[in-house]
Amino acid sequence: MKQKITLPSGFSFDGTNMLGEGRITEQELHQLAPRIAQAAAAVDEIRRTGKAKNHLSKDGKPEPVYFPRLPYLGDHFPNTPGLLEELKAFGESVRQNQDVVIFCGVGGSYLGGKVLYDCANSEFWPRRSGQGPSIFFTGNNVDSEDMIEIQEWLEALAQNKSPLKVLLVPISKSGTTMEPTTAFLYFYEYLSRRSDRFEVCGAVVTDKLLERGPLNRIARKFNWPVFDVPVGIGGRFSVLSTPGLVVGAVLGMDLPELLRGARDMDEACRSADIRTNPALFNATLKYVAAADHGATIEIIMPYAMRLKGLGEWYVQLLAESLGKRNNREGKTVFYGRTPVAAVGTTDMHAQTQMHQEGRRDKVVQFLFVESWKGKLTIHNPFPEITEYQGYEGLDAADALQAAMEANEEALSSDNRLNALYTLPELNEYTLGQLFYFLMLSITYEGELADVDAYDQPGVEIYKRIMKEKLKKK
Ligand code: PA5
Repeated sequence: MKQKITLPSGFSFDGTNMLGEGRITEQELHQLAPRIAQAAAAVDEIRRTGKAKNHLSKDGKPEPVYFPRLPYLGDHFPNTPGLLEELKAFGESVRQNQDVVIFCGVGGSYLGGKVLYDCANSEFWPRRSGQGPSIFFTGNNVDSEDMIEIQEWLEALAQNKSPLKVLLVPISKSGTTMEPTTAFLYFYEYLSRRSDRFEVCGAVVTDKLLERGPLNRIARKFNWPVFDVPVGIGGRFSVLSTPGLVVGAVLGMDLPELLRGARDMDEACRSADIRTNPALFNATLKYVAAADHGATIEIIMPYAMRLKGLGEWYVQLLAESLGKRNNREGKTVFYGRTPVAAVGTTDMHAQTQMHQEGRRDKVVQFLFVESWKGKLTIHNPFPEITEYQGYEGLDAADALQAAMEANEEALSSDNRLNALYTLPELNEYTLGQLFYFLMLSITYEGELADVDAYDQPGVEIYKRIMKEKLKKK
């Protein structure tokens, strides 16, 4: 029996291949009913009050969870109509006046914005010339080769236009993270020293409450715009907040549509019934797969090059949110699944062997876009080559779909757990739906597993060690 939930927009979650004999059974879902009801109630509580059970900030203080408020606009919400106006004006002015924009961020302050960029363009950058400023992302690593490469690009662009107007946009809630700070300092120093060739200015995305924080102080000194990362919005839940929206604004994306998609998804995910609430259904199946079927790995596999970055964004969301030693009662549970980003069809020639015949410790999550704007028909210019005859008249989108369906069928034939998200097309609205659906699914799963989905105590350990090491350098 089909176990697919389709929303009026055409977005669907299909859990059919997760269920049945040798997979997750109806009885298992039935037994979980009280816990599912509890999880639904807990997420409603987060929506209403911003309170998530036992959640504390890394300083040990109670901290609200407000990402479910991001789709809504209002004076008491993190996103306001005024902010959207300000972002629109900012984006227009940047596209008119700047030759280059360099975003410097890492983790939650990078991954979501990069997805928006990839979807608005392609996974390749910089942006084609003649379509607004060239856009670069840096500060997502401390990679000197990469920074030098960007510097060379800037030098090449300055050959044609001098001074080249460069906008630096550090995105960092804390304002002190090593990778974006390194990139920001490097490029600001370099570009301002070469004032014969470059005209540099900045805009900052950071926590405005950290008034004495470095980015706020620098922005005040130079009178740069500051976009606030609001209270209660953690990095991996921030794509629908300023860290993502600023990138979208520069790209000229329709931000109200992005938020409308998220809002419609939120409305569609209100029920406590797994057969009508797609995020709750998704979370429940993944939870049972992890807790009772040994699924310690989740492969996120969009069939689209420009959604490769979405896989990387989801890796952070899943890993930091659910990878927890202890549950919220302090009991050791070692919960979570290791996320793996893959792309179809590319990784059918690399990872699929492992998905199909490796340990039964995986769930493969497919993502498919039903209709692409561009239609591409293959022709065979070599009629004498009989091996190519079958390609004549082949529609590339049909080939992609056939490949994904074949992968689904092959996995299912051996009771390998897999599920499918489908978007009718890729645009701001459907992206907003998808982002929000995934964040909400993780939130529900956090409740089912009773782990704090909003902290990341594990990353503090290496940070302390790294700080000491850096002092000695
Ligand atoms: O999810 C998180 O909190 C992290 O990945 C952060 O987003 C990342 O470390 C960047 O932090 P910041 O925005 O403070 O520079």
